[in-house]
This record gives sequence, structure tokens and C-alpha cells, in this order.
Amino acid sequence: MSGNILGKRFVVVSFGESHGRCVGVVVDGCPAGLKLSEEDIQPLLDLRRPGQSIVTTQRREEDRVEILSGVFNGYTTGAPIAMLIWNKDIISKDYDKVLETPRPGHADYVARLKYGGYNDHRGGGRFSGRITAGYVMAGAVALKLLRETLNVEVLAYTKRIAGIEAKPLPAETVRERRWSNEVRCPDQEAAEAMKRAILEARASGDSVGGVVECIALNVPPALGEPVFDSLDSDLSKALFSIPAVKGVEFGAGFKAAELRGSEHNDPLGINGGNVRPLTNNAGGIVGGLSTGREIVVKVAFKPAASISKPQHTLNIKKGVMEEVVVTGRHDPCVVPRAVPVVEAVVGIVLADHALRAGLIHPVLRGA
Ligand SMILES: Cc1cc2nc3c(=O)[nH]c(=O)nc-3n(C[C@H](O)[C@H](O)[C@H](O)COP(=O)(O)O)c2cc1C
Repeated sequence: MSGNILGKRFVVVSFGESHGRCVGVVVDGCPAGLKLSEEDIQPLLDLRRPGQSIVTTQRREEDRVEILSGVFNGYTTGAPIAMLIWNKDIISKDYDKVLETPRPGHADYVARLKYGGYNDHRGGGRFSGRITAGYVMAGAVALKLLRETLNVEVLAYTKRIAGIEAKPLPAETVRERRWSNEVRCPDQEAAEAMKRAILEARASGDSVGGVVECIALNVPPALGEPVFDSLDSDLSKALFSIPAVKGVEFGAGFKAAELRGSEHNDPLGINGGNVRPLTNNAGGIVGGLSTGREIVVKVAFKPAASISKPQHTLNIKKGVMEEVVVTGRHDPCVVPRAVPVVEAVVGIVLADHALRAGLIHPVLRGA
């Protein structure tokens, strides 16, 4: 199975399956001399952990990260950093059925076709949202590296769930309040309505989708490479590697298609002594390079496929349509748990490009 490696200089190798022994990641290319321990990684991982509230799956996992290599005397050594969590709360028999009646909207059937049935189908295997725990571990390292060396800050939060939208809020409020409720929305009133919508969907055996917005502050200008490794290409690729992502847009995004040039163009001016766009319809990226303005990206998540409402699908052994009820423990909305994943993934790509641009030295002193 190839396709599990992301990045050129900050390289992330993802491994593990939902119901296998563990889920983890190897980070190659992290500079030596970054102070790093499990305590730097666990908080972000805890925000992704299943079973933490009534709006998420009830699978109970401790998800304690273990750093296996690449750290010595409390600092990164420059060697690959291997990290993992163990899978413990596994009920695999719930997934026997997907071998005959693949879940509509999930990867069961196409995965079977691709790997000739040798893939681990339990809990969705490699196609499970659980593999994003590895992204979060790598992202926590990347985010610390960016913070300590370039003062870059990445803030993701829930923008919309089930059509309920958070009002626009300044970055300080997002920073302060985004983790203050189960849905990870800094607008408290919207958060309560979102929570009700998730619980109502769950009660009716259904699921809902939504949008995560991510803002990256203090990103140096001119990060990115022409042409296939443009910053927006690399961010999009990484964000689309999060299961259930169906759309990614920067700045004005799809609305740009309805604007005139005179409305969409961001005029250049002087801001804080630097040449910067004075507006940010571009979302902080022009020509694939960062502009020095905040990067603003929205990520659309579909409603989780595994719903307990009866659905019709093909029984691939018998060749007949059947009514199925998906069992197992599932997220009625993946958005709240995806917020730290989006933050992590954006961190990984920015760290990769900052290293490629030579803005982070391969040996850090005192970071
Ligand atoms: C944090 C997280 C949790 C997820 N939990 C579930 C879940 O409980 N049930 C489900 O059907 N899909 C869940 N997904 C999404 C599926 O893994 C995904 O929809 C599936 O692999 C098909 O891929 P696609 O939607 O990207 O096409 C989750 C995704 C993430 C990021």
C-alpha cells in the first residue's frame, strides 16, 4: 500500500489501522534541538480522542502517545521520530457485515476491490478516521516547531455544522473560546444550536456534516514552490487526506467565481512596516506563495457514512439489494474531532515549506 507519505523536508509516514494493534506516525526531517516530550503532543491528541463527549463516537480509547525514537535528553536528535497510540477498545464483530453488505458512503467496497480482500476491514481499517491520530501527533511536533522558530500560530475551529454558522469573530476570541465547548465553536450561541442538531441527528439514526475554518497567523511571505508544490496545492492535498473531507477553499473561495476583479483584488499597501495585501480575499496565498497575510482555509466535511437508519445496498455475495442497518460506534458528526486534525495537517505543510525555504535551521539552539 503506497501513498502513506506526505512532505518533502518535514516528511510524515502514516501507519496503523483502526482495529489493528496501533496507529502511529514517523516524522523524518524534524530539526535537532527542539525540546520535545509526550506532553507536547498529548493535549492536541486529547482533543481528537473518541468518547470524550456525547456528540462523538462512544469508542473509549485512552490514546496515550508514546514517543519511540528521535528524542534524547528531552530534545529531538534529528533522527526519525516514531510515535504511536495503542488500540484497545475494539469490537470487530460489528464489521463482519461489511464484507457482504459494504456500507453506502464508506470505503468498504472500493478498498476490497483495490486490495483483493486482503485489507483489514475492521473499523474501516486504513480508511478509518482513527488514522488521523497519527496526523495529530506529527502536527503537534510541526506546530511546536513553527511556534518556537517563526512564531507561527495555527487556529482551527468549527465554522458550521448542519447549516448553523458561527458568526465572524476576531482571532483572539477564536484562540480563547474554540475549545470551550464540545463542538469546538468559539461562538457559544451557535455552538449550542450545533450540539442540538448533532444530538437530534444521532437520535434519528442519522449524521450531519459541517465546515472547519483554519487561520494561520504570522506566516512569513513567499512560502511555497512553483508549480505543483504551490502552498495551496500542498495544503489542499494534505487536507483532502483527512477522511470525509469534500471541499477545501481559500479566502473568498468559490464566492470568488461570482466577484469582479475590482471586488476580488487585494490592494497592496504598507502594514506594520511591511508590504502586505490590505484585504485578504486570496486567503493569504497568491501564485502559490504566502502573501504575509493570515492564511484562511475552509474545509468541508460530509456527514459520516455510518448511520443507524436502515439503508439499501448491494449484498455483494448474493447479488441482491438488501436493507442494512450499520452497527458499531460512530461519530454522528466528524467535525468536532476533525478540528485538531485540520490544525495539525496545516502545521505539517507549513513546517515542510518553512524548512524548504530555509527559514528553519536544521539544528536549533534553545528552542
Ligand atoms: C476524526 C474522524 C472521525 C470519523 N469517524 C467516522 C465514523 O464514526 N463513521 C464514519 O462512517 N466515518 C467516519 N469518518 C469518515 C470516514 O473515515 C470516511 O468518510 C471514509 O473513510 C470514506 O472516505 P471519504 O469520506 O473521504 O470518501 C471519520 C473521519 C474523521 C476525520
